Amino acid sequence: MSDHRAHARELAREAIARGDVTGWFERLYAESERDGFRISWVDLEPNPFLIAWLGRRPAAPTGRAIVVGCGYGDDAELLATAGLEVTAFDIAPTAIARCRARFPDSTVSYEVADVLDRAAGWSHAFDFVFEAYTVQVLPGEARAAAARSIGCLVAPGGTLLVVARSRAAEDPEGLMPWPLTRAELHEFAVPGLGLAKLEEVLEPGDPPVPRFVAEFRARN
Ligand SMILES: C[S@@+](CC[C@H](N)C(=O)[O-])C[C@H]1O[C@@H](n2cnc3c(N)ncnc32)[C@H](O)[C@@H]1O
Repeated sequence: MSDHRAHARELAREAIARGDVTGWFERLYAESERDGFRISWVDLEPNPFLIAWLGRRPAAPTGRAIVVGCGYGDDAELLATAGLEVTAFDIAPTAIARCRARFPDSTVSYEVADVLDRAAGWSHAFDFVFEAYTVQVLPGEARAAAARSIGCLVAPGGTLLVVARSRAAEDPEGLMPWPLTRAELHEFAVPGLGLAKLEEVLEPGDPPVPRFVAEFRARN
């Protein structure tokens, strides 16, 4: 385990103990910018499961997309390049400022927003919603609330793709990032949205990381 992940865990622990479940993200990004260390989840590459999902589609996706907890913007840029009209948001202003600085000519609309306090104009507004690794860094009741909020972003006929660490219900919760159980995955399935395909992937590593790659589809 890297010291950087240990540091993120400590910031998370302190913030959650204060009752502030999201307060540590901006602090971590701001410290990383100031001190030049790499945040454990930052790889400055699009998500390989998103790349694979796009590659399997018979035709390029169209319409409006939104990227939840977009970090430094690589997934949003990939979707924009694929032809979608993309909004991407993160709770951390420093991350969003970095997206705008990294991609000054981007067509992506980068916004600071909290998935737990979603703008009403985003409800059922997006043909494609991408969520990778946001719910798993939230604790307790915020997890189901975030999953339901993400499910509500999907427009009629639209698709939600979720990538997350996974665990069996009987396995210990472990340390942040806390993997999702199948029951938690079903929290995304708000009325009108159903789980269409679930892949359980063991990503090579030391140790290997089990993940869900889950595709939900909304009724027309
Ligand atoms: C583990 S990182 C994953 C970042 C990116 N999705 C990726 O795959 O590299 C989780 C991201 O979610 C953001 N985040 C956490 N809670 C959030 C919330 N309530 N609303 C919006 N973004 C949030 C964090 O700031 C962070 O950028």
